Amino acid sequence: QEVSKQVSRAAVVTIMGHVDHGKTSLLDYIRRAKVASGEAGGITQHIGAYKVHSDKGEITFIDTPGHAAFTAMRARGAKVTDVVILVVAADDGVMPQTVEAIQHAGAAGAPLVVAVNKIDRPDADPDRVKQELTNHDVIPEEWGGETQFVNVSAKTGEGIDELIEAILLQAEIMELKASPEGAARGVVIESRLDKGRGPVATILVQSGTLYKGDILLSGVETGRVRAMLTETGQEIAEAGPSTPVEILGLSGTPNAGDEAIVVSDERKAREIAGLRQAKEREAKLARQQS
Ligand code: GTP
Ligand code: NA
Ligand code: MG
Repeated sequence: QEVSKQVSRAAVVTIMGHVDHGKTSLLDYIRRAKVASGEAGGITQHIGAYKVHSDKGEITFIDTPGHAAFTAMRARGAKVTDVVILVVAADDGVMPQTVEAIQHAGAAGAPLVVAVNKIDRPDADPDRVKQELTNHDVIPEEWGGETQFVNVSAKTGEGIDELIEAILLQAEIMELKASPEGAARGVVIESRLDKGRGPVATILVQSGTLYKGDILLSGVETGRVRAMLTETGQEIAEAGPSTPVEILGLSGTPNAGDEAIVVSDERKAREIAGLRQAKEREAKLARQQS
């Protein structure tokens, strides 16, 4: 078998941190500043993942995983995240879910980039955050450790460009690669039933290239990709590694963390999906009887 050509791919980044430390605000700021340009009316569709473009490179952000979703995905064996952004509010410091996030990232083997947020607050104390994280073995580069710390404000935008640069640097160190050749393989980030469009799944392509018209098998669902959309609602015909896409055409809604693979034989795909459905029904019955 021919060895397929590996080329560098965008880092896939998840944001974690304690309640109200500014995860959503930070992602919103980045999305507004870096994604929204060029789209109709500046309205971003809801999608659980999106790609950010800067002159220095691309980053794929995964929007959904709170800790529970992250754990669920990992339980399904899905390795999605390359880098975890740990958000710590500079006026609040390390809290229980900060520690939990450090543990999640460690278990997933994903390095951290620390975003010390709310730096605009008068009571912000970024040095205290550094000190507290050092107690959890997250040691800043400037103190001889390996972790990049960036002071940011999701309110004023201060430090956001530096944060993007820190992530790109981390990605460069990791030399993330994938082959854009061959049948696509990816993972489901989220899915939902849309009234007008039917089942819609956000899939992160991890290797190969996904084309419109491909036959996809994911969990107990299958179908031909009828349409592929980017985070801005733009229709595209192909999606390579580290690209998140919304796809239409599946028979139902697969679970977050389910693998999605392209297969060549539509009948075979239906057969496998059917077998998996039967297995699921059996397992459910067994649970009810026990
Ligand atoms: P959960 O999803 O509930 O865990 O919260 P979160 O981490 O997503 O925090 P969220 O973005 O909802 O922010 C919580 C509060 O902090 C909101 O009132 C934000 O407006 C505020 N906030 C977030 N970032 C900043 C910041 O950089 N500066 C200031 N001053 N306030 C901020
Ligand atoms: Na909040
Ligand atoms: Mg939030």
